Amino acid sequence: MHFQWYPGHMTKAKRMMQENMKLIDLVIELVDARAPLASRNPDIDELSRNKARLILLNKADLAEERRNEEWKDYFENQGFFCVKVNSKKGGGLKSIQNVIQEACKEKILRDRKRGILNRPVRAMVVGIPNVGKSTFINSLAGKAAAKTGNKPGVTKGKQWIRLNKQVELLDTPGILWPKFEDQSVGLKLAFIGSIKDEILNVEELGAEFIRFICRDYPGALADKYEIEEAEDPYICLSRVAESRHCLVKGNEWDTEKAAGILMDDFRSGRMGRLTLEYPEQV
Ligand code: G4P
Repeated sequence: MHFQWYPGHMTKAKRMMQENMKLIDLVIELVDARAPLASRNPDIDELSRNKARLILLNKADLAEERRNEEWKDYFENQGFFCVKVNSKKGGGLKSIQNVIQEACKEKILRDRKRGILNRPVRAMVVGIPNVGKSTFINSLAGKAAAKTGNKPGVTKGKQWIRLNKQVELLDTPGILWPKFEDQSVGLKLAFIGSIKDEILNVEELGAEFIRFICRDYPGALADKYEIEEAEDPYICLSRVAESRHCLVKGNEWDTEKAAGILMDDFRSGRMGRLTLEYPEQV
């Protein structure tokens, strides 16, 4: 499978982020809890040098809980602050305020020594597409975010969302395109929907997903679609098609449609909580 990239996009986004970095104290990096490494952009480490760092394992509700814990330990051992969150439902968001203060302790102390009191910490949310940046900003900021959005014409300069007396958030997240050489990383990104389906062959993607799930979660496919799992992923796919009554003209199983259903079921959590990569594989 081959993926296409848009380096033009990437360069512009990176440049913008570099500019914004000068204004902030803390980088809040969102990763997808189902694939926390594949969904990181390696440039972020370099761009965020000298900044406090907080990694959010977002969509934690879609990933296996014990794996979420393992990833949290993994990132904390690397010196990051890390919180598991469900931005959609607001899970984990409460504890973030305290973690932000903890992550920025040095800056706050430095300010205090210089006699600067009560200067809020300024933060920026970054991450690859579809990882949940907008959902997170909206959930965390709530009404404050809506207010900023309702003021057309006042978009000159940077817009800050005041979360409380201690924290301000840049209202536009930093978007970085995912980056990889390893095709297995690309596949994980395609599974979670961070690479658009239009540039991929859905049937092939579905078959690759079946390969993965039958290996790491044997029985999950059988349970969900009430089918027998087979070694050949394409046979599995036609069984999914049969189970979901996907037919094309001539009474053939519509495996393309079945692949779409399969990926949709996985992405929205209807197959249960699944994690695509584990720290012990690193
Ligand atoms: P982005 O700004 O980083 O591109 O991502 P965005 O917030 O648009 O979120 C992408 C999708 O991920 C959205 O789904 C959003 O609802 C979902 N999402 C974000 N955070 C979480 C989370 O913690 N848990 C779960 N389960 N889903 C999350 P969508 O299908 O595109 O939109 P919608 O139908 O949910 O509105």
